[in-house]
Amino acid sequence: MLRTRGRLLLTGLLVVIAASLRAQSNTTLLVDVDHRTTTSLNGDWHAIVDQYATGLYTFHQELRKDGFFINAPYDPSGHPQDYNFANAVTLKVPGDWNTQRPELLYYEGPIWYERDFEHTAKPNTRTFLHIGAANYRSFVWVNTKKVCEHEGGFTPFDCELTSVVKNGKNFVVISVDNTRIADGVPTLQTDWWNYGGLTRDVSLVDVPTEFIDDYGLHLSRADHELIEGYVHVEGASSGARVTVSIPELNARATGTVDSSSRATISIPAKLINLWSPENPKLYKVEIATDADKIEDEIGFRTIESRGTQILLNGQPVFLRGISIHAEAPYRTGRAYSQKDVDTLLGWAKELGCNYVRLAHYPHDERMTRTADKLGLMVWSEIPDYWALQFENPAVLAKSKQQLGEMIRRDRNKASIVLWSVANETPNTEARTKYLTTMVDLAHQLDPTRLVTAALLVRTEKNSSGHGTTKIVDDPLGKALDVIGTNEYIGWYEQHAEGADSTTWDIRYQKPLIMSEWGGDAKAGKHAPAGDAHPALWTEEYQAEIYNHQIPMLNKIPQLRGTSPWILMDFRSARRVNPGLQDNFNRKGLISDQGQKKQAFFILQKAYKDKTLGKPE
Ligand code: GCU
Repeated sequence: MLRTRGRLLLTGLLVVIAASLRAQSNTTLLVDVDHRTTTSLNGDWHAIVDQYATGLYTFHQELRKDGFFINAPYDPSGHPQDYNFANAVTLKVPGDWNTQRPELLYYEGPIWYERDFEHTAKPNTRTFLHIGAANYRSFVWVNTKKVCEHEGGFTPFDCELTSVVKNGKNFVVISVDNTRIADGVPTLQTDWWNYGGLTRDVSLVDVPTEFIDDYGLHLSRADHELIEGYVHVEGASSGARVTVSIPELNARATGTVDSSSRATISIPAKLINLWSPENPKLYKVEIATDADKIEDEIGFRTIESRGTQILLNGQPVFLRGISIHAEAPYRTGRAYSQKDVDTLLGWAKELGCNYVRLAHYPHDERMTRTADKLGLMVWSEIPDYWALQFENPAVLAKSKQQLGEMIRRDRNKASIVLWSVANETPNTEARTKYLTTMVDLAHQLDPTRLVTAALLVRTEKNSSGHGTTKIVDDPLGKALDVIGTNEYIGWYEQHAEGADSTTWDIRYQKPLIMSEWGGDAKAGKHAPAGDAHPALWTEEYQAEIYNHQIPMLNKIPQLRGTSPWILMDFRSARRVNPGLQDNFNRKGLISDQGQKKQAFFILQKAYKDKTLGKPE
C-alpha cells in the first residue's frame, strides 16, 4: 500500500516537474544520450562577442521579439548587416570561452555561436539538439526559428528540432550569456571563475516518435535480490510494452506503460555482484520497446543512513574523500574531457579516496560515469551557493529545475550516494524554508539516496578560556539525512594548532561529513628547514593544518566522512593576492600545474593507513 502510494506520488510529481521544465524553457532532458548514436556538433563554431547584448536588445533597450544575430552568415534581405558569422572568429565547443582567447578571460556577457550542419530526415523520427551544458543562460535558433531557451550553467538540456530541421544544409545559432544575475542560481558571488560558453558536448539526436527518455533502476533496500524502477516512454500510449534485461544476471522483466507513458519495472535477480568502491561492478542493461532500444552500464548497490551510520549495501562505511572543482588540470578552464576527468579522479584514487565531493555544481557526465567505473562514491550538488534570493519564488523554481535536471541525468549512477542542495547558506528563516523544500523535493524525486548540504558552523570560546567549541545546530539539519559542515580552523580562524583544543557539539544524531577544511599554499613556497612556525602560504603551513585537523576529526564520534578543500588549485576572481594567488584559490593539495604539495602526502598516508576515520 505504502509503496504504491509513494509510486503514485512520484509519478505525479515527475510529470509535473517534466511539464514545468518544458513550460519554462521548452526543453526536455534525454537520459543516457551518451549511449545513443548521435551526430556530434563539437568542434569550431563561429562566435560573435556581443558585449552590449545588441543581439537581444534594441537601441532603446527593448527586448527584441527575436534574436538579431540569427540569420545565416549572409542576409538574403540585402540590408547592411552589423555582423557576419562567416568571417567571425571561432571558438571550440565544448569549452569555456575565457581560456580560449586572452581578451575573453574576464568576459561576462552574451556570445553568439553559429555553425552549419547537415541532416537527413528519417520517417517516424524526432530530432533533438542535445546540449551537455551552457553557462549560464542560452537561447537557441535553428534555421532562424527559435527552438528553446535554458537557464542554468551545469545541467544538460534537449531542444526539439523536428519541425524546423531540413534535409541537407541547416544552421544553428546559440546565444550564451554568462552575465551573473542577483536572482540567479548561483547568484552574484562565487568563489569559482564564471567560465562562460558551450562548456560540454553538443550533438544531434534522432529518436523514434515513441522513445525512452527517462528511467530509474535501483536495488531494493529491502531485498538485495530485487531491482526496481520505472521506464518513461515519451509519446507512448497506455498498454505499450517495455522490456528491461540484464543478460549477465540472466534477469529480465517486462512492464506496461500507463496513462502517463510510464512503466513500473520489478526484476528479481539472484547473486547480484553489488557495486562498492572495492568492487565497482557495472552491468550492461538493455531497455527496449517495439520502436526504441537503449543500453546503459549500471551498478547496483543500496545506500542509506541508520542513526549516525552511513550504510553501503547494509554495511557501515566511512567516506575518505576530497572536494573537486571542474577546473581542467594544466590547461585550466572548465573541465569536460575524458583526459581532464582521468587526471582529476586518478589523483583522487592516488590519494586513497573512496569518495569525492563534486563542488558546487553538477560536473560533466564523464565525471560520474568514470566514478562509477573507478569505485568512487560521489556527493553531487546544485549551486544553491551562499546568499541566494531565498525569498524569491522565481529563484526557488530555478533551484528546483536544476535539482530535477541533476537527478534525472545521473539517477542511474551507482557512484552517486549523496544529493546536496546547498553550500554555506545564511541561517535565515526564508533560507531554511527554501532549502527544506529542496530537501523534500530531492527525497520525492529520488527516495533511494541520501540528501545533504554543507552547513556553516557556530564557534564559541570555551568558558574555561581555553579552546573553542564548534556547535552544529543549524535548523536545516533537521531535514537532512547527512549533515555536511565546513570549517577552516588554521586559515580563516585561529592558527593550525587551534584544532587541538577544538571540540564539536553536534545537535543531531545523524552521520556527519566534514565537507570542507584546509588552507592555501603556493606550490613550491617553503619555510626554512626546521622552522617551528612556518609562514602562511607555505607548503609547510598547509601541512601543519592537516596534521592538526586529522586528530581533531577522529575525536568526532559521528564523523562518517571527510572531503578537504580541495584536490587542485582553481581559478577564482575573488583571489587577487599577487604572486600568491593571481586569481587562483590555492587550497589545492595539487597545483593547477600538477605539483603535489606536502599536505597531499599527509592525507594520502592517513587514508592509506586508515588513520583518519572509523574503520568500516
Ligand atoms: C568556502 C566555500 C568554497 C570556497 C572555500 C574557500 O567554504 O564553500 O567555495 O572556495 O570556502 O574559501 O576557499
